[in-house]
Amino acid sequence: MPQAAPCPAVSTQAAAAMRLPSSPAHPDLLIGDSEAVSRLKEQIGPCACSPYPVLIEGESGTGKELVASRIRGLGPRRTRPYVVINCAALAPGLVESALFGHTRGAFTGAAAAHAGYFEAAQDGTLFLDEIGELPLDAQAKLLRVLESGEFQRVGETRALRAGARILSATNRDLRAEVLKGRFRADLYHRLSVFSLRVPPVRERGRDRLVLLHHFARCCAQESGAAPIRLDARAETLWMAHPFPGNVRELRNIVIRLHARYAGQSIDPTRLHGELEQASLAAAADGPLALTRDAARMHLLAHRSIDLDRLLEAWERAFVEAALAITGHNLTQAARLLGVRRTTLHSRLQQFDVHGAGE
Ligand SMILES: Nc1ncnc2c1ncn2[C@@H]1O[C@H](COP(=O)(O)OP(=O)(O)O)[C@@H](O)[C@H]1O
Ligand SMILES: [Mg+2]
Repeated sequence: MPQAAPCPAVSTQAAAAMRLPSSPAHPDLLIGDSEAVSRLKEQIGPCACSPYPVLIEGESGTGKELVASRIRGLGPRRTRPYVVINCAALAPGLVESALFGHTRGAFTGAAAAHAGYFEAAQDGTLFLDEIGELPLDAQAKLLRVLESGEFQRVGETRALRAGARILSATNRDLRAEVLKGRFRADLYHRLSVFSLRVPPVRERGRDRLVLLHHFARCCAQESGAAPIRLDARAETLWMAHPFPGNVRELRNIVIRLHARYAGQSIDPTRLHGELEQASLAAAADGPLALTRDAARMHLLAHRSIDLDRLLEAWERAFVEAALAITGHNLTQAARLLGVRRTTLHSRLQQFDVHGAGE
């Protein structure tokens, strides 16, 4: 009996045991009762009962994997295998053999035959996560299998039945990808018989607080310590935070707050520190958005500010960071900041920053 090759792109039901705080008895429970989440929950039932493919779209961290797992868990195939494939992690040249398996010697390095993910899923559920990352040639092969209901291991002519139910997810706008020619229109239609959109946290209103209390309770249960509490002003700050990393970011912030302040009340200053860290992690998404978020949080955390002093502190922070990065090379630091060397020099005198030699 051939064995499925170990692959970091695949996980099975066992992975649920490693999840970070969630309801231990119901790891697939979708927490939240905002209008957007209630609508999503209503759509999951009919999807779960049907054998047809479901495409789950939504930003990173919104809960797409959770929704897939819920669809499978509520459906008639819940006791059958569940195979999760991260398409973004499949090695480009080996996608076909990973999905459909291969015979011994089918290509260089194929020392033994092995079953692919379609075979491993049997008549259970195959979840193609990050489907938008699948290369075009692999999309064509996947389409052929979905249309014919059959596949072959690479290097073999014997047809095997593709009996698994297909769920897929993406954080890309797949319709836009189709228009750009990066995703096949026919495959898109095949995969999206049902289509679900998981809303970002910023569209979930007071669910931000519901999720906060949920994860705070989970952390408390797991650690045995009392849960954290936010005071009224910190709650306002929490509600105003945009959570660009969605539920994943929100959960991680609660974990960090619990680690530092279990059983304590959290004021805006304490919360501010954690939210700022989270925003820094999201900085890659755009420095302007980051600045706006930081400004909003700062204003919410302080009753009044001195704008001139604040801007000077920001400018100074950037100058000092540029000097640190360039090993205090004034010319390079000026280039990094996009200012003349003489301008930087006069700023340094103004700030009284020392040690800016070349
Ligand atoms: N509504 C929710 N209720 C409880 N936990 C959630 C919810 N949405 C997401 N999570 C948790 O947040 C984390 C990120 O969710 P995940 O499904 O991996 O997001 P995605 O696949 O969209 O990036 C997971 O630990 C998941 O269990
Ligand atoms: Mg995911």
